[in-house]
Amino acid sequence: MRPQNLKTKIFLDSGDPVETKEIINLLGFLDGQTTNPTLISKNPYAKERFEKGEEFSKQEIYDFYKKVVTDISKLIPDGSISIEVYADAATPADEMLKQAREMFSWVPNAHIKFPTTKEGLKAAEQAIKEGLRINMTLCFSQEQAAAVYAATQGAKRGQVFVSPFIGRLDDRGENGMSLIKNILQMYKMGDGHVEVLTASVRNLSHFLYALSLDSDIITVPYKVLKEWRERKMPMPGTSKDFSYDPGKLKPIPYHEINLNLSWQKYNIWHELTDQGIERFSEDWNNLIVEKKCC
Ligand code: E4P
Repeated sequence: MRPQNLKTKIFLDSGDPVETKEIINLLGFLDGQTTNPTLISKNPYAKERFEKGEEFSKQEIYDFYKKVVTDISKLIPDGSISIEVYADAATPADEMLKQAREMFSWVPNAHIKFPTTKEGLKAAEQAIKEGLRINMTLCFSQEQAAAVYAATQGAKRGQVFVSPFIGRLDDRGENGMSLIKNILQMYKMGDGHVEVLTASVRNLSHFLYALSLDSDIITVPYKVLKEWRERKMPMPGTSKDFSYDPGKLKPIPYHEINLNLSWQKYNIWHELTDQGIERFSEDWNNLIVEKKCC
């Protein structure tokens, strides 16, 4: 059962509908699910097929992704399902948009994930005009979140998520949770049209701290949601009641940023975004073998 004082939406971070079913049974509710190319490549069926040496063709992997997303959507028809476009360093905005329009038609409750890069933001700006719902992924800085806000001005609340990746910042010694705090604080000066989706959650402390900060949404791996349930779904109270220990992680300072510039004016480059795109496209391409004709 959903705890009474839980305002944050809880998503499952997974490419496996079996986990969706189990989490719904465990928690009694689920507000959505996020997928990405790495998670799809870890889906048990994809893994098994890959291990047998039976790679997918490009069309087959898209069909498989569509099936996974359709199965998840049936389990959470009122939730949101994030589907990620394929993008490598050379993918232009037009190509991302083409995929986005197609993927958006797969299920009635899709949010399309674009990387928070120049091409991704260009695609996002147009997608919003066309009425698509989007989730800007691989966000690692406050400036990138400001650019997402600016590129999607005029969108309705619920139409745009931004996903700051905390675990990957922690991995390199920076306190990812301080980025969540900073973006939430910065967005307080805005009109509320972008929701903060805490992503790359690695443990229960990340999850509870994001709850205490009132992150709009948190996407959480299966094992962390299971642990939360096993501990009887504790709630952290407000950020004043809950103390998060970042250990030796370096804090990320807050910057005063004007949200009302055109998005091209922000410095949106971040090396972890580039690395993330590389990793996602590699995981995707590893599943594919191009059938050579004649
Ligand atoms: C979700 O939308 C993200 O793709 C996911 O949380 C990334 O997590 P990772 O950093 O553990 O790969």
